[in-house]
Amino acid sequence: MLKVPFVNLSLQHKALKRPLLKSIAEMLDSGQFILGPVVEEFEKTFAAFCDTQFAVGVDNGTNALLLTLKALGIGPGDEVITAANSFLASASCIALAGATPVFADVRDDYAIDPYFVESVITSRTKAIIPVHLTGHPAEMDTIIQLADKHCIYVVEDAAQAVGAKFAGQAVGSFGVAGCFSFHPLKILNAVGDGGMITTSDFALYEMLLKARNHGLKSRDECEFWSFNARLDAIQAIILREKMEYLNQWISKRRDIAKIYSSELAEFVKVPRESERETSVYQTYVIQAERRNQLQQYLAVRGIDTKIHYSIPIHLQEAASSLGYKIGDFRVAEYQSNHILSLPIYPELSTEQLDYVVKTIKKFYMGTGAH
Ligand SMILES: Cc1ncc(COP(=O)(O)O)c(C=O)c1O
Repeated sequence: MLKVPFVNLSLQHKALKRPLLKSIAEMLDSGQFILGPVVEEFEKTFAAFCDTQFAVGVDNGTNALLLTLKALGIGPGDEVITAANSFLASASCIALAGATPVFADVRDDYAIDPYFVESVITSRTKAIIPVHLTGHPAEMDTIIQLADKHCIYVVEDAAQAVGAKFAGQAVGSFGVAGCFSFHPLKILNAVGDGGMITTSDFALYEMLLKARNHGLKSRDECEFWSFNARLDAIQAIILREKMEYLNQWISKRRDIAKIYSSELAEFVKVPRESERETSVYQTYVIQAERRNQLQQYLAVRGIDTKIHYSIPIHLQEAASSLGYKIGDFRVAEYQSNHILSLPIYPELSTEQLDYVVKTIKKFYMGTGAH
């Protein structure tokens, strides 16, 4: 039986092993293991890719968000609005900064609904964190207009969306800052943890450089309490090397998504892109009737799928003190019961892709669901 794993990182690294090992050997010889020139070079390349003036390498995407909120002075008494259907870190960063997470429902494309956002803005709201979930850009023009109108910050959670664009503009360049993750399962992936903050605000950039390094403004002088959230040189060197392939990987993902969408639209709800949106398909998410049975059917036939995410954040135990309940965010809750992420990665073979498509069709045709 053909196997289709959800990801195949060893295949990705098989092709890259030689250049990566050469760069790692150079880094070992240099003796510079934390921050330093390779991190700076990667930051410059990444900022240019996102069309921002600056980028600050950090140890993961969660700390990218947390440091940004803290550097903007957000803390106790403040409210920050984010999507109910994201990965936990989009909300935990708000609570960890000492502020209160406020959730908004999402639209059919998983992006935060700007009209819902407006309905939950209060005098305490300090920021909105739109999440470019699945690699699909949120509606950034409306969100920026809304934020300007209410004098609040926009911090983009672009952890899943490196390379995505809205109206031709790169995500991570709309808000005061964009926060990225280089977790191994992300499109641009480290061999461990890594993250980045993009910004074109010089004051914020300077603050973040200190904030990721104990609040130090020089080797000996500490300006404010902060923690260690520095990016390792080994990750920077690997990420810098992989950036050479990034556009190629994104277009391969888009090609696979196109095939899934044209083949499966008759059977399940497939992701859509308007003319203004360029998705990078960090995940390819369908909405399926009898989702759990479909997932099981695929699993016994060697096809691995995942659910991103099965419990919306407002219904997590960690969020219980915020007072939300089932029924508060109908779209996010509906999606959590119907979504299924299919395997999508540049190394997915045509044979594997055909097999996934055929098996899904067979599930629905064989059981008379359509
Ligand atoms: C939407 C979103 N936000 C934030 C994060 C946090 O990134 P990290 O795992 O690098 O801390 C992730 C990644 O897992 C994510 O998918």
